[in-house]
Amino acid sequence: MNKIIVNGGKKLNGEITVQGAKNSVLPILVATLLVNGISVIHNCPYISDVNATIKILRYLGCKVTREGHTVIVDSSTMCRNDVPDSLMREMRSSIVFLGGIIGRTGKAVLSTPGGCEIGLRPIDLHLSAMEQFGASVTTENGFIICSAEKNGLCGTRIVLSFPSVGATENIILASTLAKGTTVISNAAREPEIIDLADFLNSCGAKIHGAGESTIVIEGIASLHSTEHTIIPDRIVASTYMIGVAMTGGKVTFKDVIPSHLGPIIQPLRESGCSIFVKGKNVTVSSQKQLKRIKMIRTMPHPGFPTDAQAQMMALTSIADGTSVFIENIFESRYKHIGELLRFGAKIHAEGRMAVVEGVKALNGANVKATDLRGGSAMFLAGLCAEGTTEITEIHHIDRGYEEPEKVLEILGADIKRVKEYEKTTE
Ligand code: UD1
Repeated sequence: MNKIIVNGGKKLNGEITVQGAKNSVLPILVATLLVNGISVIHNCPYISDVNATIKILRYLGCKVTREGHTVIVDSSTMCRNDVPDSLMREMRSSIVFLGGIIGRTGKAVLSTPGGCEIGLRPIDLHLSAMEQFGASVTTENGFIICSAEKNGLCGTRIVLSFPSVGATENIILASTLAKGTTVISNAAREPEIIDLADFLNSCGAKIHGAGESTIVIEGIASLHSTEHTIIPDRIVASTYMIGVAMTGGKVTFKDVIPSHLGPIIQPLRESGCSIFVKGKNVTVSSQKQLKRIKMIRTMPHPGFPTDAQAQMMALTSIADGTSVFIENIFESRYKHIGELLRFGAKIHAEGRMAVVEGVKALNGANVKATDLRGGSAMFLAGLCAEGTTEITEIHHIDRGYEEPEKVLEILGADIKRVKEYEKTTE
């Protein structure tokens, strides 16, 4: 059992380059299946979700090698179209293999993903889209079988009732090599959708309008090999920006895409931080007492990201005044509140709403990471708390943050990871 120990009270100062985006690298690694050849993907972070994706690619028969932050996938050796339960369960977003596998082979057999730490996470939109492409969808012994082996996938018009990120990605993946043209209405507009389309287009795909609500995909016969660099992770950048705000330091985030950070910059400014954007660099500094943020409503992009809700809640717990949160994306994404209370935060939650009354200071506590972003809220709270914080169940954090303790230590935090071995009876 690993844990992270933070001695709070140190300001964050300096500059960092942010890791590649988890939510881009996962669908792009899946998209390499469509290439039927070699893809070279740069800026892949060392996080456990990338490891889980690579495991599935290898299970499917692909040859995958890693050279530092570059992952090389040769999908010409792909020889299976199923993903077993044990691998599906390692990562909830493995549902995106549905579009990649059926797009390449005409049939996909995946175990039902089930719920996860932040809610039920249904996949009805993904499955309905496959049916609209002409695939049959059946379930057998906990497996979903999607097959378009008879007639192939046929381009179609798909209207999403909610701009689901994963469903939009699955539709893009399934339609790239389908017959005819596909139009997605009410598509997700997240930057990671643009990155996926950029990768596929650089392989020869014809995807227009990614980043907008309507995406048009003209199906083509085959793709060719390419190299691609993953965009910087806007949620990881946001997490550390919030950390700077909470500790009262000054940090420059180099080579980010500032427009991706707009939904975070606005509330950070409302809390009293200074944020200076110059080209691809964003500098955050904070010296005074933070002010409350009146209202945070999580929304699909370009609204405030649900993936930064827990971190912003940690910030408002030490701001002057009362802040209100409304979580509109996931139904049970407040598990971190119980842990924030251990630091002395004052938070009341009911349904999708949480009310945070800022306190003067947090006190170090023994807490656990309840989920990936909830876990990052724990190290943020620990950074500004008085005394020592111990965070357990950090495997959740490792799903999306590459060595956060090293990044934060470079910026001046007193933080370390310790390995604790299970006691054995000999
Ligand atoms: C992706 C991100 C995740 C982020 C989320 C919302 C990845 C790997 N993960 O997750 O970090 O928090 O977007 O920005 O990119 N829904 C349905 N039916 C469906 C699909 C979704 O009801 O078939 C609902 C979900 O339950 C949820 C909402 O739609 O309430 C948003 O989910 P979605 O956008 O699909 O999120 P993910 O793609 O799973």
